[in-house]
Amino acid sequence: MGRKILVGVAWPYVNGEKHIGQIAGAYLPPDIFARFQRMIGNDVLMVSGSDTHGTPIMLKADAEGVAYPEIVAKYHGLFVNGCLAMGLTFDLYSHTDTANHWVVTQQMFTRHWETGFVYKDIQRQWYDPVAGKFLADRYVEGDCPFCGYPDARGDQCDHCGRLYDALELKNPRSKISGTTELEVRETEHFFLDMGKMNEPLLQWIAEGKEHWRPNVINFTRGQLELRELRGRAITRDLDWGVTIPIGHYPDKRIYVWYDAVIGYLSAAIEWALLSGDAEAWRQWWDADVNPTAHIYNFIGKDNIPFHTIIWPGMLIGYNHGASRLNLPYDVPANEYLNLRGGKFSTSRGNVIGWNTVLAQFQADAWRYVLTAMAPETADVEFTWQDFMERINNELVANWGNLVNRMLGFAYKRFGGQIPTPGPFTADDEAFLAEIKAGFESVGALYQAVKLKAALQEARRLSQRVNQYLNDNAPWKSISNDPLRAATSVYVALQAIDWLKLLWAPILPHSSEQLHNMLGYTQPLFGRQYTEIVEDARGQHEVLRYDHTPARGRWEATQLAAGQALREPSPLFVKLDEALMAEKLS
Ligand code: MF3
Ligand code: ZN
Repeated sequence: MGRKILVGVAWPYVNGEKHIGQIAGAYLPPDIFARFQRMIGNDVLMVSGSDTHGTPIMLKADAEGVAYPEIVAKYHGLFVNGCLAMGLTFDLYSHTDTANHWVVTQQMFTRHWETGFVYKDIQRQWYDPVAGKFLADRYVEGDCPFCGYPDARGDQCDHCGRLYDALELKNPRSKISGTTELEVRETEHFFLDMGKMNEPLLQWIAEGKEHWRPNVINFTRGQLELRELRGRAITRDLDWGVTIPIGHYPDKRIYVWYDAVIGYLSAAIEWALLSGDAEAWRQWWDADVNPTAHIYNFIGKDNIPFHTIIWPGMLIGYNHGASRLNLPYDVPANEYLNLRGGKFSTSRGNVIGWNTVLAQFQADAWRYVLTAMAPETADVEFTWQDFMERINNELVANWGNLVNRMLGFAYKRFGGQIPTPGPFTADDEAFLAEIKAGFESVGALYQAVKLKAALQEARRLSQRVNQYLNDNAPWKSISNDPLRAATSVYVALQAIDWLKLLWAPILPHSSEQLHNMLGYTQPLFGRQYTEIVEDARGQHEVLRYDHTPARGRWEATQLAAGQALREPSPLFVKLDEALMAEKLS
């Protein structure tokens, strides 16, 4: 029994096709990490779902002239398809407009009310007299009170990432009517008493966070030390979202960020219900059942304050009641992957759509490039030139060609089998020991969520196999010393078989293909599937992962001489410069 690892993945707003910057930032890294954790024998629960509420969805529905649920169904389906094509192995990917999520959200709200962490108050808010509406969140924009960014939104600045009260915006304007003649009016709302969380959060952030990324810990400290936390409204004057379980407020809804972060918990509960053991979620979440579970939250940097201040604060408040939940163990947030000098921005049309480009290039090509370029510590600029060079000069030249060349040679010249080796030389032994050490070195990097460095280390080891083959040249020795040729081919295939595992978290599809060509009968990984779930709020499609048939283990097992190979075919497609011309221009 391994450690329980909850891999919580940011819940994407379903307001359009996601772009590759978002995939590189928040969606691919957790899958690589989860696959690795399963391989080393830990018990992973990877959950997320579509964030269906809030003004981002409402604005999109208004723009397309359709009802909110229609937008949800459309883009939820699109995201699920992307996950299938990319191989993102969610144990459960659901969404927030489900009966289960509503209940879990309302229970937490009620708990916060009972423990005194939620209170009612009058809020002064921007009001659009032309539209006759209060302007929640993204319905109002203005200049950031901290950095002056001119398109800052009502709840958060996209430029500096800080949170504030919408009334602090300078030069506000309505996104509904466009008017800048806004009024301040009073409205009753529920507030999360963040003031009570100030001290406990400062204490929490000071303890055992050495493994946190510097960008995450520094931002969080900076925010906590900048000024005392204050009450934060967690309800809105909107007609879309989870309803309020206290009192009678038919025209108000729970704030999208309050309900979305609860998704990490509600999805684990939904997963348990679907799995037939309704209490199973406690192994990851319930601090009284298993305080050693590790909860990771994979997010983009704009989500940092919600995951390192508000959500832990909500959990601290919750834990003042009769039961306790685990707080996040790590929040590996990425910086941005930018396109040509600017941030990818859906609203500015400056995007490379995920579903679109997944149809054009192999999933593992994307997984390779987005990991090689991963914006783990700083923003990174994406160019198609770089994409092409990394595929052709690294993935194909370093790893793909090595596999093709060796499997092709063994298949043709050794009767379609893994050859039986003669005695190993000291050099063979030393070489194999060097590759075997990759289980430690690459493993430690995956474990530390240094995925880019894990890729570089796997690439260095693959290059080492190329060097071994150039030194030993079995295609030459086969004519005068066939036993020596058989030995070097065996040794190289053994190294390739291990490298297949080291690469597998990043390149699951091609590792599976290679695994099959090497003659194994059990698959390396499990199976993704979708299902329609029916509950009191209607039907929703969920994405799931069944890992029972998987045999992928993080260990250097011995390759069986005589094992029948399957006819090899290339792992990767080399990109043709002429066909890439349009993208390169
Ligand atoms: N929907 C938010 C976004 O796309 C992310 C929510 S992450 C959550 O930025 F888990 F907190 F929901
Ligand atoms: Zn700002």
